[in-house]
Amino acid sequence: ANETTAYEQIGGAETISRLVHTFYALVQRHPDLAPIFPEDLTETKNKQYMFLTQFLGGPPLYSERFGHPMLRARHMPFPITPKRAEAWLSCMNQAMDKIGLEGELRNEIFSRLTLTAHHMVNQWDDAS
Ligand code: HEM
Repeated sequence: ANETTAYEQIGGAETISRLVHTFYALVQRHPDLAPIFPEDLTETKNKQYMFLTQFLGGPPLYSERFGHPMLRARHMPFPITPKRAEAWLSCMNQAMDKIGLEGELRNEIFSRLTLTAHHMVNQWDDAS
């Protein structure tokens, strides 16, 4: 068969790495997001790199190291409001633009991330 994963189609490790770095540079400068992230994003970036790799059909790097992602549970220590979910998605959208990820596949990936981001919301008080 001719089936390739989204991971392969977008350019694999190199593209994910560029996406993750570009994304967290934006997160770090976003007034709604910066306050809930650690100052040093090295480990955050590593984890997101591993997670997105498997999320897009690449090797299961995150689960091999950390077990089941249980993303919603892992986000519970952080107040994730609808406003922060939109901010996260806006940074991701901009990061995809910046690295030149385009087309139908980009839209599919972004819709999956939109569902996941909304699923992370654990606080509805939008007073940030
Ligand atoms: C970890 C915020 C959505 C994947 C984190 C951390 C924060 C955060 C503050 C902890 C960083 C650290 O301690 O290193 C948010 C906010 C979101 C959001 C505000 C808005 C909805 C997402 C989505 C994904 C995701 C949509 C998946 C694509 C991860 C992963 C980790 C993480 C894999 C590391 C978990 C771990 O192993 O500790 N996020 N996140 N996040 N986030 Fe998010």
